[in-house]
Amino acid sequence: MKAYEIKDGFGIDALALSERPDPKPGPGQVKVKIQAVSLNYRDLLVIKGLYHPNLRMPLIPCSDGAGEVVAVGPGVSRVKQGDRVAGIFMQSWRAGEVDLGKAKSALGGSIDGMLAESVVLYEDGLVHLPEHLSFEEGATLPCAALTAWNALMAGGLKPGDTVLTLGTGGVSLFALQFAAMAGARVIATSSSDAKLQRAMQLGASAGVNYRQTPEWDQQVLDLTQGMGVDLVVEVGGAGTLESSLRALRMGGHISLIGVLAKGSEVNPLPAVMKAARIQGILVGSREMFETMNRAIALHRLKPVVDRVFAFTEAREALHFMESGAHFGKVVISV
Ligand SMILES: NC(=O)c1ccc[n+]([C@@H]2O[C@H](COP(=O)([O-])OP(=O)(O)OC[C@H]3O[C@@H](n4cnc5c(N)ncnc54)[C@H](OP(=O)(O)O)[C@@H]3O)[C@@H](O)[C@H]2O)c1
Repeated sequence: MKAYEIKDGFGIDALALSERPDPKPGPGQVKVKIQAVSLNYRDLLVIKGLYHPNLRMPLIPCSDGAGEVVAVGPGVSRVKQGDRVAGIFMQSWRAGEVDLGKAKSALGGSIDGMLAESVVLYEDGLVHLPEHLSFEEGATLPCAALTAWNALMAGGLKPGDTVLTLGTGGVSLFALQFAAMAGARVIATSSSDAKLQRAMQLGASAGVNYRQTPEWDQQVLDLTQGMGVDLVVEVGGAGTLESSLRALRMGGHISLIGVLAKGSEVNPLPAVMKAARIQGILVGSREMFETMNRAIALHRLKPVVDRVFAFTEAREALHFMESGAHFGKVVISV
C-alpha cells in the first residue's frame, strides 16, 4: 500500500510517497481503508520540523482520517467490517483528563498518522462517523472540530453568550458553527472581507477585519457595548492574546489553542485585572468526540470543506493550506 512519509528530512516538498507492507490487524485491532484525510495547521508544523525537531523517521504524517473498516482482528467488538469510522487524535485518550501517556499517543506525531491508503489501529482509537457526513466531511472532525467543541464546553458556553472566533481556519469555523448552533452570538475576525461575508452566512452575527483594523479588540468591545465577550476561541497565541484579553468581559473565559500569530511577550496583568479564566485546550477525548458527533448528527451540521485534493496532490494540498487562502478545511481524497 502507498503512504506518504517524512523520511529523509523536513519540508512539504521532501514528503516521500512510499510503498509499505499492507498492515494486518492483530488482537483488538482494526484495518481501515482510508477514504479521506483532512489537514490541520499542526500537520504543517510536523512536516516542516517545527513541532518535533527530533521526530522519529520515517513517519506517516496527518492526524485526521476517515474510512471504512475492511478487516478486524480477534476480540474486536466495538466496530465491524463495513463501518464508517474516523481515528481519534490521541489514540489512548478515551475519557477523563489527559495525561502524559495519552498525550504521547497522537496520530501523525508520536505514532504513524493517516496519510496512507490503509491503517491499522486499536478499536478503542476509533469513532463512528455521523451518518449524514461523507468521508471527506467526516475526516475534518478528529482535530479541528473536537478542539473547537472542547474549547466551547470548557468555557461553559450558554445560549445568549457572545463568542469571539479568530480567523476562518478549521478550528475557528467549527467553533463558529457550534456556538451558533448552541444559541450564542458569534463575532468573527478575518483578514478578508470576502471570508467575513461567508462567516456571516454560516451564522456569525458580526465580523471584524483584523488586517484593516489592527485595534480589532476595540471594535469587538464596541460591538458588545463595552462589556466584552464571554468566551474567546484563541487560535492566535502570543500575537493575539493581549488583544483577546482586551476584548474579553470581566470574568470571561479564554480557551487557549493555537500559535498562528507571531508575538514575543504577553503581559499577564490584564488577565488578573479582569479575573479572566484562561485554559489550555489539547484536542479532546474519545468520549468528547462521541458527544460532539451526537450533536453534529442531531443538527445535521455540515463541516466547511474548502477544497478536496487527490492523493497524488498531497504536497499541493499542504502548500494551499500554508498559503492561508482556505476557508475552513482542506481535504485529501485517498
Ligand atoms: N491545542 C490544540 O489541541 C490544537 C488543535 C487544533 C489546532 N490547534 C492550533 O490552532 C491553530 C489553528 O489551527 P487550524 O488547523 O484551524 O489552522 P488553519 O485552518 O490553518 O487556520 C488558518 C487561518 O487562521 C487565520 N489566521 C492566521 N493568522 C491569524 C492572526 N494573526 N489572527 C487571526 N487569525 C489568523 C487565517 O484566517 P483568515 O484568512 O480568515 O484571516 C488563516 O486562514 C493552529 O495554531 C494550530 O496549531 C491547536
